[in-house]
Amino acid sequence: MSDEKPLLKVTIDGVQIEVPEGTTILNAARQVGGNIVPPAMCYYSKLKGSGGKCRTCLVKVSKGSEKDPRPMPKLVPSCSTTVMDGMEVLNTTSPEVLEARKGVVEFLLINHPLDCPVCDQAGECHLQDLGFEHGGAHTRYEEDRRTFERIDIGPYIQLHMNRCILCYRCVFAAEQLTNGRVHGVINRGDHAEISTYIQQAIDGDFYGNIIDVCPVGALTDKTFRFKSRVWFTKPMDAHRDCDKCSGKTAVWVAGNDVLRVTGRKDAYGEVEEFICNTCRFDKKSLSDWTIEGPRHIDRHSVIGMNHYELAAPKETQYLTNKIIE
Ligand code: SF4
Ligand code: FES
Repeated sequence: MSDEKPLLKVTIDGVQIEVPEGTTILNAARQVGGNIVPPAMCYYSKLKGSGGKCRTCLVKVSKGSEKDPRPMPKLVPSCSTTVMDGMEVLNTTSPEVLEARKGVVEFLLINHPLDCPVCDQAGECHLQDLGFEHGGAHTRYEEDRRTFERIDIGPYIQLHMNRCILCYRCVFAAEQLTNGRVHGVINRGDHAEISTYIQQAIDGDFYGNIIDVCPVGALTDKTFRFKSRVWFTKPMDAHRDCDKCSGKTAVWVAGNDVLRVTGRKDAYGEVEEFICNTCRFDKKSLSDWTIEGPRHIDRHSVIGMNHYELAAPKETQYLTNKIIE
């Protein structure tokens, strides 16, 4: 007898998929892609334990399973609810889900400042996209927002706690990628904040990845701060021989300058591989890299317009020539 477990059938917004047991609704939806995929602000597939914090991914389970077809009584977080055989899920086809998501956006924006015009994350900020797609036009919040002083976390990263939505991604990234984590969430409720506690620097070869996993502009790269709006730079796939990571990155170029280096992100804004600090912070010259060509940004946003690709052949040739020179 084969050990292979039968696949489970799940229908999301009318689209049926078969997935292995243990798959979450969110990951089942990601196998199809497009509009049926719920947004996710705290789940990050490469970080163990992430998810279940932000409630952006709420969906309605209108049929629990083939064996027990009763609907689930409340909306459920799709990032942490696993599918059952015969389950039926509503995402964008449920007015109740859309209304709840609007409420979640409003809640996330209660303390988040509207400083997109001066924030380095603008143009690739998940909260900006979420607010645009699901948010209301006005805020009903009349209280003072929480404000914090900016904090330097080591020489390369600045924390703007005002912008943090407490998704915990950076906490998981620091815990799973660095030795001796010294940062986390201190206090609870309205007083909760990301902190390095007594303001220590985070250490280790991979701590720069907390910038890439942050869905908003709370953790910013000090080597890139205020250098350019991201949509004025051209992302290129590039690689180098690196003894710490795969060396496969995206370099964001303006003219002959590499303004920043990040991991290569997929359609959900998640990096394909975590990269080391040397590649991210120290290799800011075109001659450090072998340019492979323009990176196509699948995530729909202002940089997802991919305008730079129109000039791709010439640009790529130009960059390659510069490196050979
Ligand atoms: S700093 Fe960014 S990654 Fe960390 S909890 Fe806040 S929003 Fe999430
Ligand atoms: S992505 Fe599911 S709760 Fe945040």
